[in-house]
Amino acid sequence: MSLIVLILFLLHRLKFVSSNIHDEFMFSGDNLSVDGTAEIESDGLFKLTNATGRQTTGHVFYSLPLRFKKPNGSVLSFSTSFIFAILPDDQYHISGHGLAFVISPSKDLPGVLPSQYLGLFNNSNIGDPSNHIVAVEVDTILSREFSDINDNHVGIDINSLISIESAKAGYHADDNGGGFMNLSLISGDPLQIWVEYDGAEKQLNVTLYPPNIPRPHRPLLSLRQDLSPFILDDMYVGFSSSTGSIRATHYILAWSFKMNGQAKDFDLSRLPKFPQGRQQENPTKKKKKPKVLAISLSSASLVLLLATISVIALITVKWKRRYMEVLEDWEVQYGPHRFTYKDLFIATKGFKERKLLGRGGFGGVYRGVLPTSKIHVAVKRVSHDSRQGMREFVAEIATIGRLRHPNLVRLLGYCRRKGELLLVYDYMPKGSLNKFLFDQPRLTLSWAQRFKIIRDVASGLLYLHHQWVQVIIHRDIKASNVLIDGEMNGRLGDFGLAKWCDHGTDPQTTNLAGTLGYIAPELARTGKATTRSDLFAFGSFLLEVACGRRPVEPRVELEKIILVDWVTDCWGREDILQTLDPKLGMEYVVEEAELVLKLGLLCSHPVAAARPSMLSVVRYLNGDAPLPEDFNANVLVQGRNENSNEIATSNPSSEKGSRRSLTITEQFISVGR
Ligand SMILES: *[C@@H]1O[C@H](CO)[C@@H](O)[C@H](O)[C@H]1NC(C)=O
Ligand SMILES: *[C@@H]1O[C@H](CO)[C@@H](O)[C@H](O)[C@H]1NC(C)=O
Ligand SMILES: *[C@@H]1O[C@H](CO)[C@@H](O)[C@H](O)[C@H]1NC(C)=O
Ligand SMILES: *[C@@H]1O[C@H](CO)[C@@H](O)[C@H](O)[C@H]1NC(C)=O
Ligand SMILES: *[C@@H]1O[C@H](CO)[C@@H](O)[C@H](O)[C@H]1NC(C)=O
Ligand SMILES: *[C@@H]1O[C@H](CO)[C@@H](O)[C@H](O)[C@H]1NC(C)=O
Repeated sequence: MSLIVLILFLLHRLKFVSSNIHDEFMFSGDNLSVDGTAEIESDGLFKLTNATGRQTTGHVFYSLPLRFKKPNGSVLSFSTSFIFAILPDDQYHISGHGLAFVISPSKDLPGVLPSQYLGLFNNSNIGDPSNHIVAVEVDTILSREFSDINDNHVGIDINSLISIESAKAGYHADDNGGGFMNLSLISGDPLQIWVEYDGAEKQLNVTLYPPNIPRPHRPLLSLRQDLSPFILDDMYVGFSSSTGSIRATHYILAWSFKMNGQAKDFDLSRLPKFPQGRQQENPTKKKKKPKVLAISLSSASLVLLLATISVIALITVKWKRRYMEVLEDWEVQYGPHRFTYKDLFIATKGFKERKLLGRGGFGGVYRGVLPTSKIHVAVKRVSHDSRQGMREFVAEIATIGRLRHPNLVRLLGYCRRKGELLLVYDYMPKGSLNKFLFDQPRLTLSWAQRFKIIRDVASGLLYLHHQWVQVIIHRDIKASNVLIDGEMNGRLGDFGLAKWCDHGTDPQTTNLAGTLGYIAPELARTGKATTRSDLFAFGSFLLEVACGRRPVEPRVELEKIILVDWVTDCWGREDILQTLDPKLGMEYVVEEAELVLKLGLLCSHPVAAARPSMLSVVRYLNGDAPLPEDFNANVLVQGRNENSNEIATSNPSSEKGSRRSLTITEQFISVGR
């Protein structure tokens, strides 16, 4: 009975009432203004953005203004706390773009931009002192233009998104010497933040921590700054959040605010439920431990014989688990392509760090020698979601395993473990092409070698698109997926797998299947990969090889940042060769270099239908046909503009020329590595 009374009491308390008008409140559904994608759900959960909207913004503000200043103009102390959770888009493992606690003169922010602008500013008012916006950002994307430190940080922003102070997400532990504990903002777990300003000390502190531990004493950020020039007498408080091409769901689970005192902390048992995206991690793994423990416990109280048996059992369990794999009945038909985990384990000496060749598209790649055949292989470990399409995936591996072409890296087979997939490839002694192209002090690839590799890759791609019984779309063409064999031939790797794999380890690759900077505009819009979107990436690849730089290079002059645009502009000025890799000097064949650059532009034409097929590409590269005569820089600039209009109409919140800004935004993510 008393329990029921207690519950009723709690339920009553749940609908919180503000005590002192205008200076203290705990959020409930009342007196809040929402706009954009923001929603308040019935149990008081704020959803600022949802995982289905790209380029969206959402705001939640307390609908009444608060008096922030004393009559003499100094800013009052205030304290606020909130619990948030960010669920990255299920398959992406990257999440965009974050949220911010905001103090603003207005609760309407018209004309603000999504993505890296966090729904707070636009490119005309950013940095403007008349904004009077003070914010604490929880930023999950690295934006170079705003000097972000990484893609997982908290920052204090005043009138701009270039944080005055920022720190990677985490907290200073109180115990054990106060080590710094890292936190992931996009783990999907709730995290709590305190933002407190001491009006007398003129100090703003921000503390982030998981709500299930006591609040750490030392704040993550502590800024000594008088806020009075930035804060007006009456201000609104609330939250802003945005998504970009990368999406996320941003939740606020609880929020309290108090002027001139400490805001209330939360009763964790009363937090609203929110759909936790992630599955419970490996429940079976947890179950196993007690079992083993039980065995050893009982053995301790029993005779020596039993003890020995349990030790043997333990070792066997360990041994078995070490090599445990997943094999289902339907897989038997793919027999020859299936490797045992034990063989791969032995081949790579237990996936030792020193066998690591690199961390590529989907995960670590290890070098190894197969035990019986002594074949040199590269074993790629890919984390995967075993629930989804495993049967189709294995069927596809079997198909890909049957492809044979001198310019493709052969997939020898696979092995499947829980949550992990191992792909076995021919070992390529010289590694990937990007090692030769980028960040080299001296010339490492002559023009002749480059031109040969371009033709090799074209020939491999021609095979995938036109010469195999079914059309295979590569989906992730780029210099780092081109490997060099012992004879300096170029070979295309990783084909067809992009759509199946997690991209957790490589933020450069998105689940759009493809790598940022190589993603055709229509692919970004529709998510549907075609041979034409492969051609777009191939165009970027041609320019990369000829110019010796990445498709987007944030550290160069503005007009050179986007390689395609720069090459187009130089062509317009009749100076296309200026864009060639300076390390080549004069050592190149003018006709070939012009051909590669122009063909690169033609292939990465913004309009999919204007791109040539691989059949034509190979003819152009062999000199069997000239490039289309009506193709020139003007056509490209025109196509570029038309295409950006098209995006602008499908995405009203962004401005004209959004293709450019979209690409920059996305690419800035990738340089965060
Ligand atoms: C909402 O605002 C009204 C006055 O506009 C006030 O009477 C009421 O207490 C407020 N409710 C909450 C939950 O703040
Ligand atoms: C997510 O936001 C978009 C854009 O505002 C909206 O169209 C869509 O209905 C929302 N989806 C859900 C599940 O709320
Ligand atoms: C305003 O008054 C407070 C005391 O209420 C004082 O601490 C502060 O220095 C004053 N500020 C200015 C700008 O005079
Ligand atoms: C930029 O944002 C401000 C504040 O929300 C707004 O007043 C202004 O109209 C916006 N500018 C543009 C060009 O959208
Ligand atoms: C936190 O992350 C950094 C790299 O960002 C790493 O060097 C450090 O070891 C991590 N600390 C803990 C406690 O995991
Ligand atoms: C901010 O942090 C500093 C350093 O831990 C502390 O001395 C100060 O009292 C804190 N101020 C507020 C307003 O929490």
